[in-house]
Amino acid sequence: MRTPIMAGNWKMNCDNDEAQALADGVLARAGQVEDALVILCPPASALTTVHAAIANSNIKLGGQNMFWEEEGAFTGELSARMLLSCGCEFVIIGHSERRGRFGSVDEADAADLDTIFGDTDATVNRKVKAALAAGLLPIGCCGELLGERQAGNTDAVVEGQVKAMLDGIDADGVAQMVIAYEPVWAIGTGEVCDADEANRVCGMIRGVVAGLYGDELADGMRILYGGSVKPDNVEGLMAMADIDGGLVGGASLKADSFGALVEAAADAR
Ligand code: PGA
Repeated sequence: MRTPIMAGNWKMNCDNDEAQALADGVLARAGQVEDALVILCPPASALTTVHAAIANSNIKLGGQNMFWEEEGAFTGELSARMLLSCGCEFVIIGHSERRGRFGSVDEADAADLDTIFGDTDATVNRKVKAALAAGLLPIGCCGELLGERQAGNTDAVVEGQVKAMLDGIDADGVAQMVIAYEPVWAIGTGEVCDADEANRVCGMIRGVVAGLYGDELADGMRILYGGSVKPDNVEGLMAMADIDGGLVGGASLKADSFGALVEAAADAR
């Protein structure tokens, strides 16, 4: 039985006071939940604040990104060890907004934004390896653009991203990972992927992992769906056999809505 995960990606929201208030609110709603793993991923500036707020709870802390080098002249970057020292146990890697797509549903916009953050399959792979080597658990993201879906390339794109993400990583490492399927056109748009289709792609990802590492490892892996998860659609998503939870942006910024998502995840198992 895979314990469901509900992970809140706060993105570039919340100064320290707001982060404290939101963490306190989540704690009150979901701090002692045992049937689901709750992960909060605040901006780096608020990691220590949130870590202190959730200290006596079951809630875990995650970073939103990291660099693969251990230290050095990399202005603005954070290493895995730095995230660990802030109390992180998880790190989101390869979010579409870091892959340079910036959440766009429009290919033309995406092309313009392609170089802003610039994560690629190769940098995602390096980051996942560095996280695992340091003892940080990666939540590796994948997902197709709208144009890729419309062209019928969803499975090929996602399979390619997953294989590239896992390239050169041994089974012990992969067994510690979480994968998040986040169709880019569904992120922040209110347009949730149909639950059956999200489940189909998550199942396809599980099949790719099984092909590389065997059924047992794939059966144990948590695969999340992300993209406009909300209290009114979470039950349908959580009812799906291959969806083990959510990676949530907008609805994680209010304690009430995120609390409802956590409860739905816990109830689903
Ligand atoms: P959203 O973001 O829930 O606001 O669509 C999801 C994500 O980017 O992880």
